[in-house]
Amino acid sequence: MDTRVALADVSGVVENVTALARSLPSEAYTSQAYLDAELDQLFFKEWLYACPLALLPEERHATPIVVAGQPVLLVKDETGGIAAFHNVCPHRGVLLVAQPCRVRQHLVCPYHGWQFSFSGQLIRTPHFGGHGQHTSTGLDPCQHSLRPIRALSWAGALFINFSDEAPGLNDKLAALAHHWRDYDFARLRYGGSIEKTIEANWKLAVENFVESYHLPWTHPHLNSVSRLDAHSSLITESFISQISHHYDSELAGHGALPRFAGLPEQRFSMAEYPALMPNVMIGVHPDYLFFYVVDPISPGRSRQAYHFYFVGDDAMSDRLAEARQCVIEQWRAINEQDVEMLERMQQGRDSRGYAGGPFSPFHEATTHEFQKRVAMRCYLVD
Ligand code: FES
Ligand SMILES: [Fe+2]
Repeated sequence: MDTRVALADVSGVVENVTALARSLPSEAYTSQAYLDAELDQLFFKEWLYACPLALLPEERHATPIVVAGQPVLLVKDETGGIAAFHNVCPHRGVLLVAQPCRVRQHLVCPYHGWQFSFSGQLIRTPHFGGHGQHTSTGLDPCQHSLRPIRALSWAGALFINFSDEAPGLNDKLAALAHHWRDYDFARLRYGGSIEKTIEANWKLAVENFVESYHLPWTHPHLNSVSRLDAHSSLITESFISQISHHYDSELAGHGALPRFAGLPEQRFSMAEYPALMPNVMIGVHPDYLFFYVVDPISPGRSRQAYHFYFVGDDAMSDRLAEARQCVIEQWRAINEQDVEMLERMQQGRDSRGYAGGPFSPFHEATTHEFQKRVAMRCYLVD
């Protein structure tokens, strides 16, 4: 007997045949119960993009960020090692670090002065046992360390995982790393970010990213550089992707940028756009890469960021500043067009006249697959 309990009727989306499937119900985009399930089953179990490594430049430095609504503290120790912790003091639960800062010797809580080492150990609890008494019976400092979060880097980015049980980052990325074995990601150099709060559910951004059906109408200019009919889809166990087979960096206006060396010929005219569960989207081009991350704030609001990386030190020279900017501005414009549709789809989720729609079996198998994976992981619980 099937003991799974559904939050709502998602039978339409878990249908395997895309032509017969129906998209998620509107509540999946407007209800906190759905978002709570997504946070528990996806965001607190999967590896998540934290930040570009280059934003953590100095040793002895602490950087607070927020990922999936969680305050996270990134610490670079005296040897350059990076650790992540829940950014909360284990005493009264104060946000430990509010602004990026240099750490002279220890991390010091601003409320009662507790001190923590770079590895998160509780070192000092001033006057905790009374005036001049810095210890107290019953207080075992080992029990009150900062709570660590797993953190690992790949392709110039830091990833974190809130779960101790989840498989390693290498397991998650193995198939993608193999798929992109021709690209030397060690050459990537961080070149800037675009961040924006959008009035739309995070899933809409992913669903939009993995289909190219909307290109001619939503992005007429992009469609002239990277045409709809030159796109294909790829669905694997590890990622859901769309591929442009006629990517043209000259036509896009940044042909001067250095490219990855040694790519097979066909890859010079290809761009790939895979999405990794839950919210990490990647754009790989012969001359740059971006991560596009959409982090839920509430059911109807998300924080999104594009992080751009170029190929090799020469790409970061002043001479190529304009070409780099061309890439960033191109995606800013594309994203503005997408965001208008994402926000309009969110508005449509309030309509009593909409209860999910069909998927194009050709163009939207990827969108269907993403919704199906979310539903299977989050809404149907054993
Ligand atoms: S809350 Fe941090 S030392 Fe008291
Ligand atoms: Fe788009």
